[in-house]
Amino acid sequence: MRIHGTHFRTIWADAENESEICIIDQRQLPHQFVIEHLRCLDDAITAIKDMHVRGAGLIGATAGFGMYLAAINAPEEAVDEVLEEAARRLNDSRPTARNLGWAVERILTSVKTVRTGADKKKKAYKTACEIADEDAAFCKQIGEHGLELIEAISRKKNGAPVNILTHCNAGWLAFVDYGSATAPIYAARDAGIAVHVWVDETRPWNQGAKLTAWELQQEGIANTLITDNAGGHLMQQGMVDMVIVGSDRTTHTGDVANKIGTYLKALAAHDNHVPFYVALPSSTFDWRLTKGTEIPIEQRSGEEILWISGIDHTGKIKSVQLAAPGTQAVNFSFDITPSRLVSALITERGIVQPSKHAIHALFPDKLLPSSQE
Ligand code: MRU
Repeated sequence: MRIHGTHFRTIWADAENESEICIIDQRQLPHQFVIEHLRCLDDAITAIKDMHVRGAGLIGATAGFGMYLAAINAPEEAVDEVLEEAARRLNDSRPTARNLGWAVERILTSVKTVRTGADKKKKAYKTACEIADEDAAFCKQIGEHGLELIEAISRKKNGAPVNILTHCNAGWLAFVDYGSATAPIYAARDAGIAVHVWVDETRPWNQGAKLTAWELQQEGIANTLITDNAGGHLMQQGMVDMVIVGSDRTTHTGDVANKIGTYLKALAAHDNHVPFYVALPSSTFDWRLTKGTEIPIEQRSGEEILWISGIDHTGKIKSVQLAAPGTQAVNFSFDITPSRLVSALITERGIVQPSKHAIHALFPDKLLPSSQE
């Protein structure tokens, strides 16, 4: 992804000092582009919990590097024990995105294949880098597969712009590069297809308004910001050709957890015969869960609803209170879209129907004994 013409990933090891991991502090976007250095496990946990980084893929990559930071700061003889404790703390930092637990388990498994503390530290670094590289590569492949869906609509419309609605930010900023929901959009642009994106603002954290609109703007993709409640109306008016969203966790039967409000978009899409696609890398599948209702739904502070932040006329980022002092607010961060409302899943291995049978056929190597029951 290019920022003012320069390519950036969302997380990388400092080229001059590999024991520091660089991230972009997403709380400051789109007004300020601030690079933050993570130096220890606590820094990584804070970055995930307080949403300096967010989005399933990037949470996973940050957890991987967080494990690496825990390893390099551990005594040589106690790397395994330190990593077990780090895994527990990271797993508690945000509950919904499956990529987090998946990345933590991958590091734990990889360090067990070598014996000395020094080798375990090297292995943790290598695996964390692999997790990040694979995330970027998988998103690129999602783009290549999703492109055919956009191409087909473009052909039907004789080349008129394809209107794509997206919710929250499943873009570059939610992954290491490309994004999941945005990768097909970038691929379509590269293939010369005219696209326009309706961007849901995504209350209360406003990932759509603050991140997706900015990210698309940086890449020169036509986009229009809408309120969260506008999607149904636009679909009734024939102004949406397709919906593409991301996912934080998807069961191996095709039920999708994504940012709160996704379910309502899926209902509106179903009622208006608008195809509803979910773009996700395989690291987002939960091979243990058969029902969407089993997915843990994060509840964040009500303060995120009661207060809103933005830039004032002097250029300073400020928070202001929206509701009357003392107002009660409850903040469910995600909801579940049942598989019956999903037209297809776009994965790194191809487009797949949201059913146990089809998902298992595409990912036979990922299944657990319990997935078969
Ligand atoms: O709370 P967030 O910002 O970490 O939520 C994640 C999201 O941005 C969305 O739910 C997204 O659509 C899927 S993450 C790839």
